[in-house]
Amino acid sequence: MPKTFFITTAIDYTNSPPHIGHAYEKVLADVIARYHRLKGDNVFFLTGVDQHGQKVQQSAAKAGVPPAEFVKEITQKFVDLWKKLDVKYDEWAETTSERHKKVVQGILQRLWDDKDPATGKSRWIYKAKQDGYYSVRQEQFLTDKERGPDGEFGPEWGQVEFREEENYYFKLSQHKEWLFRYLDNRKDAVIPNFRQTELRNAVEKLSGDLCISRPKSRLDWGIELPFDKDFVNYVWFDALTNYISFAGYDPKADDYAKQSQEFRNRWSRDTLQIIGKDILVPAHGIYWLIMLHAIGFPDDQMPQLLVHGWWNLGGAKMSKSTGNIVDPFALIDKYGAQALRYYLMRGIATGSDADFSEQLLVNTGNNDLSNVLGNLLNRTLTMVWRYCEGSVSLLNLNDLCDRPAWSEVRTLVQTEIPESFNAYVQEMSAFNPTKALGTAIFLGLCGNAIVEITAPWKLAKEESEKKTLQAVLYYLTDLLRIIAIRVSPVLPRAAHGIFDQLNWKMELGGKEERFSLADAEWGRLPDGHVVGKPVPLFPRIEK
Ligand code: MSP
Repeated sequence: MPKTFFITTAIDYTNSPPHIGHAYEKVLADVIARYHRLKGDNVFFLTGVDQHGQKVQQSAAKAGVPPAEFVKEITQKFVDLWKKLDVKYDEWAETTSERHKKVVQGILQRLWDDKDPATGKSRWIYKAKQDGYYSVRQEQFLTDKERGPDGEFGPEWGQVEFREEENYYFKLSQHKEWLFRYLDNRKDAVIPNFRQTELRNAVEKLSGDLCISRPKSRLDWGIELPFDKDFVNYVWFDALTNYISFAGYDPKADDYAKQSQEFRNRWSRDTLQIIGKDILVPAHGIYWLIMLHAIGFPDDQMPQLLVHGWWNLGGAKMSKSTGNIVDPFALIDKYGAQALRYYLMRGIATGSDADFSEQLLVNTGNNDLSNVLGNLLNRTLTMVWRYCEGSVSLLNLNDLCDRPAWSEVRTLVQTEIPESFNAYVQEMSAFNPTKALGTAIFLGLCGNAIVEITAPWKLAKEESEKKTLQAVLYYLTDLLRIIAIRVSPVLPRAAHGIFDQLNWKMELGGKEERFSLADAEWGRLPDGHVVGKPVPLFPRIEK
C-alpha cells in the first residue's frame, strides 16, 4: 500500500454557524491537499465538526432544542459551506458518532487499566477533589490569573461561588521533560518557527495536570467515561482524538506498531495538522502531543503542526458577541466561490494575521484574475484564431527571439519563467499558497509583457515573420496551460475553465486528474493543436 499524505484541520465548533476564519483554514488545507494530489501523492484529508461540550449544551438550551438537534443543524451549515467552496475531503469527523465514541472510550479505558503495580492505580488518570471559585456563567473554576487589578473577579464571570467538585485528571506534567526533548530533537515540529519557540516557552511553565471530566449533573452532552458512569469526558480527549479515530485507529492496540497497515500508511511524522494560533498552546502543542505519547506513538511518528494566523476585522478579533463576523455564504453569493478562495489564499501569508477587507477581495480578483490572467487568456486565444485559424505550431520562441529590442523577452523565456517553476514548488511545499500564487500571476504578467513587446499584430503583417508569430502564440498558449496547472489547487474551477478554452485534455473535463505538476513544463501542447474560442473567464467584479 503506498504511503499517504495525511492532512487534518481543527474540527469546528458547532455552537454557532461557520464564519470566514473557518473557511480560511479549510481552504488552506484543501489547497495543500490538492497540491499534493497534483504532485501525484496519495492524499487523505480529514476535517469535521466538534459537537460536544458546555457551549453547545448552553446554546441548544437557549434555542430551546435538544443538543443533538442543535448540532445537526449547524453541522449541515458546515457541510454546505465546504461543498460550495469546493473543499474536497476524504473523511468527515463528527464527534457524536458511534465510531468516534468507541475510540475515545477505548483509549480512556486503556489508560485507566494501565496500573502501576506498586500502587495498583492507573499510571495516567486519577480522581481528585478540587475546590475554588467557580463562575456559574462560564462554567469553569477560576484561578488568581482571572482576578482583575482590584483582586476581584470581573463582571464577565457573572455569579462566582465557592465550590468543591470531584473530577478525573490526566497526568500531564510528568511528561514535561519528554516534550522538551521531543521539541529539541525536531526543529520543525511546529511551523512557523516562532510558534515552536512559543510552545517551548509554554512547556517551561507547564505545571499541574489536565482535568478530563465533568460530573453529569452539570454537563451531560459529552462522551461518558467508560469507568465512571457519573461523568462525561471534557473535552480534549474527545475533540483531539478525532484525528485518529476517523483515520482508522484501533484503541485496543496499545502501540503504534500494532495499528493496522491502513492506519500506519496514513499516520506518520509527515502528517500535517493545520490549526489556528489560538489552539496551539495548550491544546495541540501540549495536550495532544502528550496524549499521543501516552497512547504509544513513538517520537518519530509525531505529527507536524502548521499554525496559521487569524483574519481580523478592522484590526480587532472577529467576535460573535460584538457582531463583527464575516459570513462566507454571503460573500460566495455575491462574488462566487473562486473569488473568495483566491482572496483567502492571496490576502494572508500563512502564519501571519491579516485584516479582512471586502474591497481588497474585489480588487485582488480584478487585478490578478481579470486584468492579468483573464486578459492574457482572452487576447491569446483571440490572436490564435485571428492569425492562425485557431491552431498553434510547436516552435520554440527561445530560438527566435534573438533581436535587440526583445532582450526582455529573452530573459523571461530563458531564465525567469523557468526559474519560477522552482519557486512555485518551493512555496507550495512550504505551505505558502500566497507566494505560490504570486508565481502564477508572475507568469501572467510575463505573458502580457511578451504580447506588448513582440506585438503579434505587427508580426502578422509580415510574411517573413510568420514563424516568429507562430512561436510567440505557441509560447503564450502553452504558458496559459502551465498557469492553469499552477492555479488549480486554489482555483480548480477556473483552471478547468482555462483548459476548456485551450481545448486541452477535454476527456478529463471536470476531473482533478486533468492537472499534474509533471505537465507544468514548456512544450506539452502538440504541433497543430486547435484551441477553443475565447470566453471571458474572470469578468470584473463590482462592489
Ligand atoms: N473545536 C475547536 C478545535 C478542536 S481541535 C480538536 C475549535 N473550534 S473553532 O471553531 O473555534 O475554531 C476552528 C478553527 O478555526 C481553529 O483552528 C481556529 O484557529 C480557526 N479560526 C477561528 N477563527 C479564526 C479567524 N478569525 N481566522 C482564522 N482562523 C480562525 O477551536
